[in-house]
Amino acid sequence: MSVAKSILLRLYSLALVFLGITLVSSFLLAQTVQISVDASKSGAKIDRNLFGQFAEHLGYGIYGGIWVGPDSPIPNTRGIRNDVVGALKAIHVPNVRWPGGCFADEYHWRDGIGPKRVVRLNPNWGGVIEPDTFGTHEFMDFIDQIGSEAYVSVNLGSGTVKEASDWLEYMTAGQATTLEQERAANGHPAPYKVAILGLGNESWDCGGNMTPEYYLDRMKVFTRFVRNYNPAQQDKDQMQKIAVGPGGSEQRWTDWTETIMKAYGQHTWSWGISGLSMHNYTVVKWPPAFKSFGFGEDEYAQILKSTLEMDDLIKKHSAIMDKYDPEKKVALIVDEWGGWYEQLPGSHRGFLVQQNSLRDAILAALNLNIFARHADRVRGANIAQMINVLQSMILTEKEKMVLTPTYHVFKMYVPFQDSTFVPVTFKNGTYKHGDFSLPRVDAMAAKGKDGKLWVEITNVDPSRPAEVDLSVAGMNAKAASGEMLTAAKVDSVNTFEAPNSVVPKAISTKAQGGKLTLTLAPKSVTVVSIEQ
Ligand code: AHR
Repeated sequence: MSVAKSILLRLYSLALVFLGITLVSSFLLAQTVQISVDASKSGAKIDRNLFGQFAEHLGYGIYGGIWVGPDSPIPNTRGIRNDVVGALKAIHVPNVRWPGGCFADEYHWRDGIGPKRVVRLNPNWGGVIEPDTFGTHEFMDFIDQIGSEAYVSVNLGSGTVKEASDWLEYMTAGQATTLEQERAANGHPAPYKVAILGLGNESWDCGGNMTPEYYLDRMKVFTRFVRNYNPAQQDKDQMQKIAVGPGGSEQRWTDWTETIMKAYGQHTWSWGISGLSMHNYTVVKWPPAFKSFGFGEDEYAQILKSTLEMDDLIKKHSAIMDKYDPEKKVALIVDEWGGWYEQLPGSHRGFLVQQNSLRDAILAALNLNIFARHADRVRGANIAQMINVLQSMILTEKEKMVLTPTYHVFKMYVPFQDSTFVPVTFKNGTYKHGDFSLPRVDAMAAKGKDGKLWVEITNVDPSRPAEVDLSVAGMNAKAASGEMLTAAKVDSVNTFEAPNSVVPKAISTKAQGGKLTLTLAPKSVTVVSIEQ
């Protein structure tokens, strides 16, 4: 080959490479997503209780995570960790569901009051000693310290109606009954507020393997006799009573919802419920086998695809509820949800210890958006579980504490608490990986209590950024600011050694003439506020 020919050939190949790079980068960069929000339109209220938490006597969820005891060198207030309280206050936890879970149907409240506690075993979760040091008063103190409300689940499985009704009288009576006096003698003369009451837990499974008919009969008796006597909760702020509801989409679950709601449709003055619970974990296969970190794009795409099934599940059970309760008086309360993965190697069997990655942050945002879109029926949800268990907000190890990516999403969503849903239109596009194909972008908007318009946008695609053109009608959008949560990898996590690998960062946005432009990083959760 002549020298001239070889130079030409080289130039030609260089040009081809250049063209390829240009094409790929423009494909990666120019992915404009048009999102329109009309701030003059509004939907249902996004109940703050959608951001509820769940704290079960399980692993280090309570002991170590919340309770260290008053004599601990870990800074605490009456035995409750100060660092955890500080972190939880910042996410405005609306309610905490306690004491379980499966634990609730084996919990006997008297074991956990007074100077001498009853030491038992916790057969559901690792068979360890349950010291009952953290009981009613400690839980209520914790609730008070974080500025939240109590969602107490009574023992409908192995307890009696009398036991549950006595517990409620003990907690809430304002008149001088023997139980009220006992509460006062134990340090709390004023009645406690019990905002939400759970009538058993998973009664179709760990809560007693009941048929829907048997549960219904038992639940009706509980709703009749388990009363809240708090004088401040008689006319307004009445306690919500939540019946056990479905745990999936199969026939046995639709039968369950049908049975409870059909009965509700014909209920008399002497019993009633204000909510039906639903449990739905993102787990893909049982026993949980997906890793909570140290995974790649396959597991990222598969878990996020699976988590979107929450939407169909809500639709399925809401449709049954609509038949018997068209006015939507009974709320659907998703009081256990989140990613459930293989427990960390070396952790105690049954303690459900897992890490929490950027994937969980995105999973949380997608689910919160689903709840918000169904806010007319879904008026409560409790992520499982608050500290050190499953998809938690916080991880602790002795005196150390780290905030998870999921925590940061809950913090970014605080303005959505008790906001008003505003419809958003957008083409969500497609993110494809192998056999998995799912919407690439998700978005949700609401009018906050602060008068601002809040918009959340998730870019699920782990490789492609998204240019967003956000058109805002119904207000003269002038100023905007926002935060974005992303990280280097889909399985990036925060650790005690590196606590800030996944934290939100301020982003720059321009608002002009009702238009906003912003660039979403791949695999990111973004919340923007828009003012006029
Ligand atoms: O959150 C862990 C367990 O999952 C709960 O105790 C139970 O209700 C569910 O099966």
